[in-house]
Amino acid sequence: MTHDELTRVGVVGGGLMGAGVAEVCARAGLDVVVVETSADSAAAAVDRLTKSLGRAAAKARVESVDAVMQHIDVVTDLTAMADRQLVIEAIVEDERAKVELFRRLDEIVTDPTALLASNTSSIPIMKLGVVTSRPHQVLGIHFFNPVPVLPLVELVPSLLTADEVTEQSRTFVQEMLGKHAIVSQDRAGFIVNALLIPFVLSAIRMLESGFATAEDIDRGLVLGAAHPQGPLALADLIGLDTTKAVAESLYEEFKEPLYASPPLLARMVDAGLLGRKSGRGFHTYD
Ligand SMILES: NC(=O)c1ccc[n+]([C@@H]2O[C@H](COP(=O)([O-])OP(=O)(O)OC[C@H]3O[C@@H](n4cnc5c(N)ncnc54)[C@H](O)[C@@H]3O)[C@@H](O)[C@H]2O)c1
Repeated sequence: MTHDELTRVGVVGGGLMGAGVAEVCARAGLDVVVVETSADSAAAAVDRLTKSLGRAAAKARVESVDAVMQHIDVVTDLTAMADRQLVIEAIVEDERAKVELFRRLDEIVTDPTALLASNTSSIPIMKLGVVTSRPHQVLGIHFFNPVPVLPLVELVPSLLTADEVTEQSRTFVQEMLGKHAIVSQDRAGFIVNALLIPFVLSAIRMLESGFATAEDIDRGLVLGAAHPQGPLALADLIGLDTTKAVAESLYEEFKEPLYASPPLLARMVDAGLLGRKSGRGFHTYD
């Protein structure tokens, strides 16, 4: 498949990331089908998409919300992925759920040259590839939040991914979506999170020990190190459940204390204080 031939993209999961991936693909003129688990979560995905596109339209970055939405179908049946040439999985960061999904996608997606990609932040791509009959067609295509805004994508080939699949994905990301691709080996955290998560966890430990307030920790990094936002605000943006899951995968892979999730993070996740998406994390949101 050349990039001229790639027109049909599937996105599994229409949450924070899946909706963003669907949006950038539709804005590139691709035909996009998003699969969600229920009518309610499909409606939430449509709402997320129209709100984000509304913001883009207000800044004249898209012609109209409706024009982009015409390229996107949100459904609840995974068999809608059958005719897709590229499927990007963006469901919850749960290894068992993703393994099961890749097994099903392998049965459902009919084109033997179709690429099966995961937006996972930390689950080894190899674990997803080996449950399919086409591990050479499976790779990580890891976007950053918010997807319509951040230009970076990490491409993560496993040991079994074909070189031409990585190159096709690079063309998709750079030429079709206008983003920048970097390539990481299939190691937990890839490049960016392996560096970023220990930094965020250190800020949580600093808060937990009473060393400083959340406001001062974040202000310190914004005003003193020119970060666009502080580490705790960043954790709120990523989602505290996702932050914890990524930290656990990093710890599992490397067994380094700097990747160990602090108790405060676990308690906040148990309390449903998940950051921006739940309205409250280290900071509160409207
Ligand atoms: N949040 C981030 O900053 C970020 C950044 C990069 C990558 N990721 C990764 O992207 C993935 C999704 O994260 P998110 O933040 O969008 O999570 P999210 O909780 O916002 O969205 C997940 C969505 O997947 C849906 N879902 C769950 N199981 C499904 C299934 N079997 N079929 C179809 N839909 C299903 C849920 O209903 C939900 O809407 C994770 O693997 C995460 O690690 C997250």
